[in-house]
Amino acid sequence: MKTIHQIFYRDARNLKNIPSESVDLVVTSPPYPMIGMWDDVFGSQNAEIEKALETGDGKLAHELMHKILDPVWDEMFRVLKDGRFACINIGDATRKVGGDFCLYPNHARILSYLLNIGFSALPDILWRKQTNAPNKFMGSGMLPAGAYVTLEHEYILILRKGSKREFKTECEKQNRRESALFWEERNIWYSDVWMDIKGTGQRLSDELSRLRSAAFPYNLAYRLVNMYSVKGDVILDPFLGTGTTIAAAMTSGRNSVGVEIDKSFQSAICPMARQIVDFSNDYLRDRLKKHFAFVEDRIQMSGPLKYTNKHYGCPVVTSQEQSILLNGLKEVRESDDNIFEVAYFAKPQSIYDQNRNKMTIESQDKSETQLDLLNRQ
Ligand SMILES: C[S@@+](CC[C@H](N)C(=O)[O-])C[C@H]1O[C@@H](n2cnc3c(N)ncnc32)[C@H](O)[C@@H]1O
Repeated sequence: MKTIHQIFYRDARNLKNIPSESVDLVVTSPPYPMIGMWDDVFGSQNAEIEKALETGDGKLAHELMHKILDPVWDEMFRVLKDGRFACINIGDATRKVGGDFCLYPNHARILSYLLNIGFSALPDILWRKQTNAPNKFMGSGMLPAGAYVTLEHEYILILRKGSKREFKTECEKQNRRESALFWEERNIWYSDVWMDIKGTGQRLSDELSRLRSAAFPYNLAYRLVNMYSVKGDVILDPFLGTGTTIAAAMTSGRNSVGVEIDKSFQSAICPMARQIVDFSNDYLRDRLKKHFAFVEDRIQMSGPLKYTNKHYGCPVVTSQEQSILLNGLKEVRESDDNIFEVAYFAKPQSIYDQNRNKMTIESQDKSETQLDLLNRQ
């Protein structure tokens, strides 16, 4: 088993190098309109934006920034196959422009545009990023009528192009079964409020910290990739940034395409890709370990489980989990034109040892530093 990952350093408003109907899933997070750190990125794409901000016309600036994102959404619609999903992480912005403080509802503006161009909306995910920052309360303190509630959540909009995806052949059905989630993961991942994923952390070098300050957490991308695609699919991130989506696709046995306008991100993406084998294998082992711990608790509490996973020999709650197979990574190869090829093990790298109540694995105890680059939460 192999996957291919390609990065284009270009403007995602034109994805002419990606054929129509060739992508199975989009996972992305655009620059957020009206968040100060992105003013220059938007301003460099339309000079009118700076003027609108200077003259205190926040609503116009907001709309002009979204007009830069709109062509990317058009391209996303074109390249997605029928029945496939787009997951867009976006936060609203609060800002004082021209003396008035207000909310700029980015998620609503993007959602309404996506519906207009033909997407169907599905229930979205509210990502609650808890913070203890003392400045999280805004406005008039304890005095009524001038205080605002905290803004501690972002959205993950979930859209579908066309109607339900079908898995027709036995091979497609088997691949889908191998790509399934464990029951206890489903219960958390498919809930509409995510509170267990923190924002990106700080354990990085200065250069990577600067680049990663707008990155979404690896766990967020990994979940979405595994919830809305199957192994062998093609994942696209048109606002690639540090390459988190590509990393999640590599770990998950999916192919990927990333597009990023700013070539300086290459200094984060390439080292990440070079370390992906150890990182992913640690991550996959962790996922299995959590499952094994879950089933042991569950068996102690309520007795034996009815089903067994045929690859790991471990108990599972439902029949749909019997074929789950997390393919370990064997090696990654880099070619000089921003293409990475990942090879995988076809067989499980770990098994559940029922007698000793623990997992038997090939090797363990990887140092934590391997995890730093992807900043796992
Ligand atoms: C919020 S960041 C994405 C972060 C990414 N999810 C990660 O984990 O690192 C948005 C990215 O979009 C890029 N960008 C902005 N305008 C773009 C455009 N027109 N085409 C492609 N990329 C663009 C920015 O340079 C930035 O890296």
